[in-house]
Amino acid sequence: MKQYIISFAHSFPNFRVAELESLADLHGVSVDLSHHDEKSPFLVVELESDEDAANLIRRSILAKGIYELWGEGADFDALHESVKSRSSDKFETYKQSTFKFDFVSFMGTKTTEEKIAIIETFKYTGFEGKIRLKNPEVTYAVLEKYQVSGMEKADTPDYLWFGRQVQLSARSEGAVEKYDLKKRKYIGTTSFEAELSLISCNIGQVMPGKFIYDPFTGTGSFLVAGAYFGAYPIGTDIDPRSIRGKGVNCNLKTNFKQYGTSSQFIDSFVMDFTNNALRNNLTIDSIVCDPPYGVREGLKVCGAKNPEKAAGRETNVVEGELGHLRRDFIAPKKPYELANLLEDLLNFAAEKLPTGGRLAFWMPTANDEFVEHHIPQHERLQHLYALEQEFNKWSRRLLVYVKRDEGYRGCTTNGMIENNVTSFRVRYFKSFNEKSRTTEPKMENLPQ
Ligand SMILES: C[S@@+](CC[C@H](N)C(=O)[O-])C[C@H]1O[C@@H](n2cnc3c(N)ncnc32)[C@H](O)[C@@H]1O
Repeated sequence: MKQYIISFAHSFPNFRVAELESLADLHGVSVDLSHHDEKSPFLVVELESDEDAANLIRRSILAKGIYELWGEGADFDALHESVKSRSSDKFETYKQSTFKFDFVSFMGTKTTEEKIAIIETFKYTGFEGKIRLKNPEVTYAVLEKYQVSGMEKADTPDYLWFGRQVQLSARSEGAVEKYDLKKRKYIGTTSFEAELSLISCNIGQVMPGKFIYDPFTGTGSFLVAGAYFGAYPIGTDIDPRSIRGKGVNCNLKTNFKQYGTSSQFIDSFVMDFTNNALRNNLTIDSIVCDPPYGVREGLKVCGAKNPEKAAGRETNVVEGELGHLRRDFIAPKKPYELANLLEDLLNFAAEKLPTGGRLAFWMPTANDEFVEHHIPQHERLQHLYALEQEFNKWSRRLLVYVKRDEGYRGCTTNGMIENNVTSFRVRYFKSFNEKSRTTEPKMENLPQ
Protein backbone atom coordinates (compact mmCIF):
# COMPACT_ATOMS: atom_id res chain seq x y z
CA MET A 1 0.00 0.00 0.00
CA LYS A 2 1.20 3.56 -0.76
CA GLN A 3 0.20 6.84 0.81
CA TYR A 4 -1.76 9.39 -1.19
CA ILE A 5 -3.25 12.75 -0.23
CA ILE A 6 -6.68 13.92 -1.41
CA SER A 7 -7.47 17.63 -1.59
CA PHE A 8 -11.13 18.58 -1.15
CA ALA A 9 -13.25 21.53 -2.23
CA HIS A 10 -14.73 23.59 0.58
CA SER A 11 -18.20 22.29 -0.17
CA PHE A 12 -20.60 19.84 1.52
CA PRO A 13 -17.90 18.21 3.71
CA ASN A 14 -20.51 15.89 5.25
CA PHE A 15 -21.11 14.32 1.80
CA ARG A 16 -17.42 13.54 1.10
CA VAL A 17 -17.13 10.09 2.68
CA ALA A 18 -20.36 8.88 1.06
CA GLU A 19 -19.17 10.08 -2.35
CA LEU A 20 -15.72 8.52 -2.08
CA GLU A 21 -17.02 5.27 -0.57
CA SER A 22 -19.51 5.01 -3.45
CA LEU A 23 -16.81 5.63 -6.06
CA ALA A 24 -14.43 3.18 -4.33
CA ASP A 25 -17.17 0.53 -4.30
CA LEU A 26 -18.00 1.25 -7.96
CA HIS A 27 -14.38 0.63 -9.02
CA GLY A 28 -13.50 -2.13 -6.54
CA VAL A 29 -10.99 0.12 -4.76
CA SER A 30 -10.16 -0.75 -1.16
CA VAL A 31 -9.72 2.36 1.01
CA ASP A 32 -10.19 3.26 4.68
CA LEU A 33 -11.82 6.69 5.08
CA SER A 34 -12.65 6.34 8.78
CA HIS A 35 -10.17 9.04 9.82
CA HIS A 36 -11.72 11.69 7.54
CA ASP A 37 -12.07 15.07 9.28
CA GLU A 38 -14.77 17.38 7.90
CA LYS A 39 -12.80 20.40 9.10
CA SER A 40 -9.70 19.56 7.07
CA PRO A 41 -9.45 20.15 3.31
CA PHE A 42 -6.94 17.27 3.03
CA LEU A 43 -7.07 13.54 3.72
CA VAL A 44 -4.17 11.09 3.63
CA VAL A 45 -5.21 7.59 2.49
CA GLU A 46 -3.48 4.31 1.70
CA LEU A 47 -4.11 2.78 -1.71
CA GLU A 48 -2.76 -0.12 -3.72
CA SER A 49 -1.75 1.80 -6.85
CA ASP A 50 -1.96 4.98 -8.94
CA GLU A 51 -4.72 3.27 -10.91
CA ASP A 52 -6.83 2.86 -7.77
CA ALA A 53 -6.13 6.49 -6.82
CA ALA A 54 -7.22 7.67 -10.28
CA ASN A 55 -10.40 5.55 -10.19
CA LEU A 56 -11.30 6.87 -6.76
CA ILE A 57 -11.01 10.55 -7.71
CA ARG A 58 -11.67 10.87 -11.47
CA ARG A 59 -15.46 11.29 -11.11
CA SER A 60 -15.45 13.05 -7.77
CA ILE A 61 -17.23 16.38 -7.34
CA LEU A 62 -16.17 17.01 -3.74
CA ALA A 63 -12.50 16.11 -4.15
CA LYS A 64 -10.28 18.28 -6.30
CA GLY A 65 -7.38 15.91 -6.85
CA ILE A 66 -5.18 13.13 -5.49
CA TYR A 67 -1.38 13.09 -5.13
CA GLU A 68 1.18 10.43 -4.37
CA LEU A 69 2.52 11.59 -1.01
CA TRP A 70 6.27 12.24 -1.05
CA GLY A 71 6.67 14.02 2.28
CA GLU A 72 5.06 16.20 4.94
CA GLY A 73 5.95 18.51 7.81
CA ALA A 74 4.93 21.41 10.01
CA ASP A 75 7.24 23.80 8.07
CA PHE A 76 9.35 23.78 4.90
CA ASP A 77 12.48 22.48 6.67
CA ALA A 78 10.55 19.53 8.07
CA LEU A 79 8.87 18.98 4.69
CA HIS A 80 12.20 18.83 2.83
CA GLU A 81 13.67 16.43 5.42
CA SER A 82 10.64 14.19 5.02
CA VAL A 83 10.78 14.26 1.18
CA LYS A 84 14.51 13.42 1.21
CA SER A 85 14.19 10.59 3.70
CA ARG A 86 11.11 8.84 2.31
CA SER A 87 11.06 9.64 -1.42
CA SER A 88 14.61 10.19 -2.76
CA ASP A 89 14.36 6.80 -4.54
CA LYS A 90 11.65 8.39 -6.76
CA PHE A 91 13.76 11.35 -7.96
CA GLU A 92 15.57 9.24 -10.60
CA THR A 93 12.32 7.93 -12.13
CA TYR A 94 11.12 11.44 -12.96
CA LYS A 95 14.53 13.06 -13.56
CA GLN A 96 14.07 13.72 -17.29
CA SER A 97 10.27 14.31 -17.29
CA THR A 98 8.84 17.70 -18.19
CA PHE A 99 7.19 19.15 -15.11
CA LYS A 100 5.47 21.97 -13.30
CA PHE A 101 4.67 22.87 -9.69
CA ASP A 102 1.20 23.62 -8.37
CA PHE A 103 0.26 25.17 -5.05
CA VAL A 104 -2.85 23.70 -3.46
CA SER A 105 -3.88 25.67 -0.45
CA PHE A 106 -6.99 26.36 1.49
CA MET A 107 -7.48 30.13 1.97
CA GLY A 108 -3.87 30.81 0.90
CA THR A 109 -2.59 32.80 -2.07
CA LYS A 110 0.98 33.41 -3.14
CA THR A 111 2.71 35.83 -5.46
CA THR A 112 4.65 34.41 -8.42
CA GLU A 113 7.92 35.44 -6.71
CA GLU A 114 6.98 33.57 -3.55
CA LYS A 115 6.11 30.49 -5.60
CA ILE A 116 9.40 30.58 -7.51
CA ALA A 117 11.32 30.95 -4.25
CA ILE A 118 9.60 27.83 -2.87
CA ILE A 119 10.16 25.84 -6.09
CA GLU A 120 13.89 26.71 -5.83
CA THR A 121 14.05 25.01 -2.42
CA PHE A 122 13.25 21.66 -4.13
CA LYS A 123 16.49 21.82 -6.20
CA TYR A 124 17.88 18.78 -4.37
CA THR A 125 15.38 16.57 -6.28
CA GLY A 126 17.71 17.06 -9.31
CA PHE A 127 14.89 17.23 -11.87
CA GLU A 128 16.44 18.00 -15.27
CA GLY A 129 13.31 17.93 -17.45
CA LYS A 130 11.97 21.12 -19.01
CA ILE A 131 9.41 23.16 -17.09
CA ARG A 132 6.15 23.04 -19.01
CA LEU A 133 3.09 24.85 -17.71
CA LYS A 134 0.80 23.21 -20.29
CA ASN A 135 0.58 19.40 -20.35
CA PRO A 136 3.74 18.56 -18.41
CA GLU A 137 4.52 14.88 -17.93
CA VAL A 138 4.54 15.33 -14.16
CA THR A 139 2.86 17.88 -11.91
CA TYR A 140 4.20 18.25 -8.38
CA ALA A 141 2.12 19.94 -5.74
CA VAL A 142 2.84 21.74 -2.52
CA LEU A 143 -0.29 21.36 -0.39
CA GLU A 144 -0.65 23.88 2.42
CA LYS A 145 -3.06 24.04 5.32
CA TYR A 146 -3.56 27.35 7.13
CA GLN A 147 -5.14 27.94 10.50
CA VAL A 148 -8.27 29.98 9.87
CA SER A 149 -10.32 31.77 12.48
CA GLY A 150 -13.48 33.34 11.08
CA MET A 151 -12.45 35.05 7.84
CA GLU A 152 -8.89 35.60 9.09
CA LYS A 153 -6.12 33.37 7.80
CA ALA A 154 -2.73 32.86 9.48
CA ASP A 155 0.30 34.24 7.55
CA THR A 156 2.14 30.95 7.37
CA PRO A 157 0.79 27.44 6.80
CA ASP A 158 0.56 25.22 9.86
CA TYR A 159 1.12 22.00 7.89
CA LEU A 160 2.55 21.10 4.48
CA TRP A 161 2.60 18.11 2.16
CA PHE A 162 4.45 17.50 -1.09
CA GLY A 163 3.28 15.06 -3.72
CA ARG A 164 3.06 14.01 -7.35
CA GLN A 165 -0.32 14.62 -8.97
CA VAL A 166 -2.01 11.37 -9.97
CA GLN A 167 -5.51 12.53 -10.94
CA LEU A 168 -7.57 15.69 -10.98
CA SER A 169 -11.30 15.27 -10.40
CA ALA A 170 -14.38 15.99 -12.52
CA ARG A 171 -14.79 19.11 -10.40
CA SER A 172 -11.31 20.33 -11.32
CA GLU A 173 -12.11 19.58 -14.96
CA GLY A 174 -15.01 22.05 -14.72
CA ALA A 175 -18.08 19.78 -14.33
CA VAL A 176 -19.81 21.98 -11.75
CA GLU A 177 -19.41 25.18 -13.79
CA LYS A 178 -20.38 23.42 -17.01
CA TYR A 179 -23.68 22.24 -15.47
CA ASP A 180 -24.36 25.47 -13.58
CA LEU A 181 -28.09 26.25 -13.79
CA LYS A 182 -27.30 29.85 -14.73
CA LYS A 183 -25.86 28.59 -18.01
CA ARG A 184 -28.49 25.91 -18.69
CA LYS A 185 -31.08 26.72 -21.35
CA TYR A 186 -34.09 24.84 -20.01
CA ILE A 187 -34.63 25.31 -16.28
CA GLY A 188 -37.64 25.91 -14.03
CA THR A 189 -38.50 26.62 -10.42
CA THR A 190 -37.90 22.93 -9.62
CA SER A 191 -34.42 22.61 -11.18
CA PHE A 192 -31.93 21.04 -8.81
CA GLU A 193 -28.52 22.69 -8.43
CA ALA A 194 -25.74 21.23 -10.55
CA GLU A 195 -23.23 20.39 -7.84
CA LEU A 196 -25.64 18.33 -5.74
CA SER A 197 -27.17 16.70 -8.82
CA LEU A 198 -23.72 15.45 -9.83
CA ILE A 199 -22.94 14.36 -6.25
CA SER A 200 -26.30 12.53 -6.06
CA CYS A 201 -25.40 10.64 -9.24
CA ASN A 202 -22.00 9.65 -7.80
CA ILE A 203 -23.54 8.42 -4.56
CA GLY A 204 -26.31 6.76 -6.59
CA GLN A 205 -23.52 4.99 -8.53
CA VAL A 206 -24.84 6.10 -11.91
CA MET A 207 -22.66 4.19 -14.36
CA PRO A 208 -21.49 4.57 -17.97
CA GLY A 209 -23.59 2.50 -20.35
CA LYS A 210 -26.30 1.84 -17.70
CA PHE A 211 -29.79 3.27 -17.22
CA ILE A 212 -30.55 6.15 -14.86
CA TYR A 213 -34.24 6.77 -14.23
CA ASP A 214 -35.84 9.86 -12.67
CA PRO A 215 -39.58 9.27 -12.06
CA PHE A 216 -40.10 12.97 -11.20
CA THR A 217 -38.01 14.43 -14.02
CA GLY A 218 -39.20 18.06 -14.04
CA THR A 219 -36.48 19.88 -16.00
CA GLY A 220 -34.19 16.85 -15.87
CA SER A 221 -31.42 18.02 -13.53
CA PHE A 222 -30.49 14.48 -12.44
CA LEU A 223 -30.76 13.10 -15.95
CA VAL A 224 -28.29 15.54 -17.51
CA ALA A 225 -25.93 14.91 -14.57
CA GLY A 226 -26.28 11.15 -15.11
CA ALA A 227 -25.49 11.57 -18.79
CA TYR A 228 -22.32 13.47 -17.82
CA PHE A 229 -21.18 10.25 -16.13
CA GLY A 230 -21.94 8.27 -19.30
CA ALA A 231 -25.32 6.78 -18.33
CA TYR A 232 -28.48 6.43 -20.45
CA PRO A 233 -31.24 8.62 -18.95
CA ILE A 234 -34.98 7.85 -18.91
CA GLY A 235 -37.39 10.41 -17.45
CA THR A 236 -41.07 10.57 -16.63
CA ASP A 237 -43.24 13.25 -15.01
CA ILE A 238 -46.95 13.67 -14.42
CA ASP A 239 -46.83 17.25 -15.70
CA PRO A 240 -46.90 17.47 -19.52
CA ARG A 241 -45.52 21.02 -19.33
CA SER A 242 -42.20 19.89 -17.89
CA ILE A 243 -41.81 17.15 -20.50
CA ARG A 244 -42.85 19.52 -23.33
CA GLY A 245 -40.56 22.32 -22.12
CA LYS A 246 -40.74 25.89 -23.34
CA GLY A 247 -40.63 25.37 -27.09
CA VAL A 248 -38.49 23.57 -29.67
CA ASN A 249 -35.30 25.29 -28.58
CA CYS A 250 -35.82 25.04 -24.84
CA ASN A 251 -36.70 21.61 -23.49
CA LEU A 252 -35.18 18.50 -21.98
CA LYS A 253 -33.77 17.39 -25.34
CA THR A 254 -32.07 20.72 -25.97
CA ASN A 255 -30.38 20.46 -22.53
CA PHE A 256 -28.77 17.19 -23.61
CA LYS A 257 -27.81 18.85 -26.88
CA GLN A 258 -26.23 21.74 -24.97
CA TYR A 259 -24.04 19.28 -23.05
CA GLY A 260 -23.21 17.09 -26.05
CA THR A 261 -24.93 14.03 -24.57
CA SER A 262 -27.96 13.76 -26.91
CA SER A 263 -26.87 10.33 -28.15
CA GLN A 264 -27.25 8.91 -24.63
CA PHE A 265 -30.72 10.33 -23.88
CA ILE A 266 -33.21 7.45 -24.16
CA ASP A 267 -36.47 9.42 -23.76
CA SER A 268 -38.92 11.12 -21.45
CA PHE A 269 -42.69 10.89 -21.33
CA VAL A 270 -45.72 11.93 -19.31
CA MET A 271 -46.63 9.38 -16.64
CA ASP A 272 -48.03 9.32 -13.15
CA PHE A 273 -45.45 7.38 -11.16
CA THR A 274 -48.18 5.73 -9.08
CA ASN A 275 -49.75 4.31 -12.28
CA ASN A 276 -46.49 3.07 -13.68
CA ALA A 277 -46.42 2.00 -17.32
CA LEU A 278 -42.78 0.88 -17.60
CA ARG A 279 -42.63 -2.74 -18.65
CA ASN A 280 -42.15 -5.23 -15.83
CA ASN A 281 -38.92 -6.79 -17.05
CA LEU A 282 -37.12 -3.47 -17.57
CA THR A 283 -34.06 -3.33 -15.32
CA ILE A 284 -33.13 0.14 -14.14
CA ASP A 285 -29.59 0.44 -12.79
CA SER A 286 -29.92 3.64 -10.73
CA ILE A 287 -32.86 5.78 -9.63
CA VAL A 288 -32.00 9.35 -8.66
CA CYS A 289 -34.74 11.87 -7.94
CA ASP A 290 -36.26 14.71 -6.02
CA PRO A 291 -39.88 13.63 -5.35
CA PRO A 292 -42.69 16.19 -5.04
CA TYR A 293 -43.06 17.00 -1.36
CA GLY A 294 -46.45 18.63 -1.73
CA VAL A 295 -45.39 21.82 0.04
CA ARG A 296 -46.39 24.40 -2.58
CA GLU A 297 -49.54 22.58 -3.49
CA GLY A 298 -50.80 19.29 -2.13
CA LEU A 299 -49.42 16.16 -3.76
CA LYS A 300 -51.69 14.83 -6.54
CA VAL A 301 -51.79 11.64 -8.59
CA CYS A 302 -54.05 10.44 -11.41
CA GLY A 303 -57.40 9.17 -10.21
CA ALA A 304 -60.82 10.39 -9.22
CA LYS A 305 -61.67 11.67 -5.75
CA ASN A 306 -65.01 9.94 -6.16
CA PRO A 307 -64.46 6.76 -8.23
CA GLU A 308 -68.18 5.95 -8.44
CA LYS A 309 -69.03 9.29 -9.99
CA ALA A 310 -66.05 9.05 -12.33
CA ALA A 311 -67.00 5.55 -13.52
CA GLY A 312 -70.19 7.05 -14.98
CA ARG A 313 -68.12 9.51 -17.06
CA GLU A 314 -66.27 6.71 -18.88
CA THR A 315 -69.21 6.49 -21.26
CA ASN A 316 -69.04 10.22 -22.16
CA VAL A 317 -68.81 10.63 -25.91
CA VAL A 318 -67.28 13.76 -27.47
CA GLU A 319 -67.44 14.23 -31.25
CA GLY A 320 -68.04 10.52 -31.71
CA GLU A 321 -65.13 9.42 -29.49
CA LEU A 322 -65.05 8.21 -25.90
CA GLY A 323 -63.97 11.32 -23.99
CA HIS A 324 -61.24 9.63 -21.89
CA LEU A 325 -59.59 8.14 -25.00
CA ARG A 326 -59.20 11.50 -26.80
CA ARG A 327 -55.75 13.09 -27.06
CA ASP A 328 -56.98 16.26 -25.37
CA PHE A 329 -58.34 14.38 -22.33
CA ILE A 330 -56.99 15.69 -19.06
CA ALA A 331 -57.01 12.93 -16.47
CA PRO A 332 -58.61 13.85 -13.14
CA LYS A 333 -56.28 14.10 -10.14
CA LYS A 334 -56.78 13.10 -6.54
CA PRO A 335 -54.78 14.00 -3.42
CA TYR A 336 -52.12 11.52 -2.28
CA GLU A 337 -49.94 11.18 0.81
CA LEU A 338 -46.18 11.58 0.47
CA ALA A 339 -45.71 8.59 2.80
CA ASN A 340 -47.52 6.45 0.22
CA LEU A 341 -45.58 7.92 -2.70
CA LEU A 342 -42.29 7.11 -0.95
CA GLU A 343 -43.53 3.61 -0.22
CA ASP A 344 -44.35 3.27 -3.95
CA LEU A 345 -40.85 4.52 -4.77
CA LEU A 346 -39.16 1.98 -2.48
CA ASN A 347 -41.36 -0.84 -3.80
CA PHE A 348 -40.55 0.18 -7.38
CA ALA A 349 -36.80 0.30 -6.61
CA ALA A 350 -36.93 -3.10 -4.87
CA GLU A 351 -38.58 -4.56 -7.96
CA LYS A 352 -36.71 -2.83 -10.80
CA LEU A 353 -33.13 -2.42 -9.51
CA PRO A 354 -30.61 -5.20 -10.06
CA THR A 355 -28.76 -6.52 -6.99
CA GLY A 356 -26.28 -3.77 -6.08
CA GLY A 357 -28.37 -1.08 -7.86
CA ARG A 358 -29.00 2.15 -5.95
CA LEU A 359 -31.92 4.45 -5.18
CA ALA A 360 -31.01 8.02 -4.14
CA PHE A 361 -33.67 10.62 -3.41
CA TRP A 362 -34.04 13.94 -1.59
CA MET A 363 -36.49 14.58 1.21
CA PRO A 364 -37.07 17.61 3.45
CA THR A 365 -36.64 17.35 7.21
CA ALA A 366 -37.08 19.99 9.89
CA ASN A 367 -33.74 20.91 11.43
CA ASP A 368 -34.73 19.98 14.93
CA GLU A 369 -36.37 16.69 13.98
CA PHE A 370 -33.51 14.68 12.49
CA VAL A 371 -34.60 11.32 13.83
CA GLU A 372 -33.36 8.06 12.30
CA HIS A 373 -36.67 6.21 12.35
CA HIS A 374 -38.21 8.77 10.00
CA ILE A 375 -36.28 7.13 7.18
CA PRO A 376 -38.57 4.83 5.19
CA GLN A 377 -37.32 1.25 4.85
CA HIS A 378 -37.96 -1.66 2.53
CA GLU A 379 -36.89 -5.21 3.37
CA ARG A 380 -35.01 -5.70 0.08
CA LEU A 381 -33.22 -2.36 0.24
CA GLN A 382 -30.38 -1.63 2.62
CA HIS A 383 -30.36 1.97 3.74
CA LEU A 384 -26.83 3.37 3.26
CA TYR A 385 -26.85 7.13 3.85
CA ALA A 386 -28.95 10.03 5.14
CA LEU A 387 -26.91 13.10 4.19
CA GLU A 388 -28.23 16.39 5.40
CA GLN A 389 -28.09 19.78 3.71
CA GLU A 390 -29.08 22.57 6.05
CA PHE A 391 -30.76 25.83 5.09
CA ASN A 392 -31.72 28.65 7.38
CA LYS A 393 -35.09 27.37 8.53
CA TRP A 394 -35.27 23.88 7.10
CA SER A 395 -33.10 21.10 5.82
CA ARG A 396 -33.33 18.29 3.32
CA ARG A 397 -31.47 15.06 3.14
CA LEU A 398 -30.32 12.68 0.49
CA LEU A 399 -31.49 9.16 1.32
CA VAL A 400 -29.55 6.40 -0.40
CA TYR A 401 -30.38 2.68 -0.58
CA VAL A 402 -28.85 -0.35 -2.24
CA LYS A 403 -30.81 -3.37 -3.43
CA ARG A 404 -29.49 -6.51 -1.79
CA ASP A 405 -29.80 -10.10 -3.04
CA GLU A 406 -32.63 -12.56 -2.36
CA GLY A 407 -31.12 -13.60 0.97
CA TYR A 408 -31.27 -10.06 2.42
CA ARG A 409 -34.09 -9.20 4.81
CA GLY A 410 -34.01 -5.69 6.23
CA CYS A 411 -36.85 -3.99 8.06
CA THR A 412 -39.92 -2.28 6.57
CA THR A 413 -41.20 1.02 7.91
CA ASN A 414 -43.07 4.01 6.67
CA GLY A 415 -45.28 4.80 9.66
CA MET A 416 -43.48 7.87 10.89
CA ILE A 417 -42.95 9.56 7.56
CA GLU A 418 -46.43 10.89 7.18
CA ASN A 419 -46.36 12.76 10.47
CA ASN A 420 -42.91 14.06 9.81
CA VAL A 421 -43.77 15.40 6.40
CA THR A 422 -47.09 16.82 7.44
CA SER A 423 -45.35 18.59 10.25
CA PHE A 424 -42.69 19.80 7.80
CA ARG A 425 -45.36 21.38 5.62
CA VAL A 426 -47.18 22.95 8.52
CA ARG A 427 -43.96 24.05 10.14
CA TYR A 428 -42.50 25.45 6.92
CA PHE A 429 -45.38 27.85 6.58
CA LYS A 430 -45.01 28.72 10.21
CA SER A 431 -41.29 29.17 9.43
CA PHE A 432 -40.44 26.59 12.13
CA ASN A 433 -39.87 29.18 14.77
CA GLU A 434 -42.27 32.06 14.95
CA LYS A 435 -40.14 34.02 17.40
CA SER A 436 -37.04 34.24 15.24
CA ARG A 437 -38.99 34.79 12.02
CA THR A 438 -38.55 38.16 10.41
CA THR A 439 -39.69 37.60 6.82
CA GLU A 440 -42.25 35.55 4.96
CA PRO A 441 -40.82 32.44 3.24
CA LYS A 442 -40.31 33.24 -0.46
CA MET A 443 -42.06 30.97 -2.95
CA GLU A 444 -38.90 30.47 -5.02
CA ASN A 445 -37.06 29.14 -1.97
CA LEU A 446 -39.64 26.52 -1.17
CA PRO A 447 -39.08 22.84 -1.79
CA GLN A 448 -41.60 21.36 -4.29
C1 LIG B 1 -39.39 18.48 -6.96
S1 LIG B 1 -39.88 18.35 -8.60
C2 LIG B 1 -38.49 17.56 -9.35
C3 LIG B 1 -37.68 18.54 -10.08
C4 LIG B 1 -36.59 17.97 -10.94
N1 LIG B 1 -35.61 17.30 -10.15
C5 LIG B 1 -35.96 19.06 -11.80
O1 LIG B 1 -34.75 18.99 -12.00
O2 LIG B 1 -36.65 19.95 -12.30
C6 LIG B 1 -41.09 17.12 -8.56
C7 LIG B 1 -41.65 16.74 -9.88
O3 LIG B 1 -42.53 15.65 -9.68
C8 LIG B 1 -43.61 15.75 -10.58
N2 LIG B 1 -44.70 14.94 -10.05
C9 LIG B 1 -45.60 15.25 -9.10
N3 LIG B 1 -46.43 14.21 -8.86
C10 LIG B 1 -46.05 13.21 -9.70
C11 LIG B 1 -46.49 11.89 -9.96
N4 LIG B 1 -47.54 11.38 -9.31
N5 LIG B 1 -45.85 11.16 -10.90
C12 LIG B 1 -44.80 11.68 -11.59
N6 LIG B 1 -44.35 12.92 -11.41
C13 LIG B 1 -44.94 13.67 -10.47
C14 LIG B 1 -43.88 17.25 -10.65
O4 LIG B 1 -44.56 17.57 -11.85
C15 LIG B 1 -42.47 17.83 -10.57
O5 LIG B 1 -41.96 18.06 -11.87
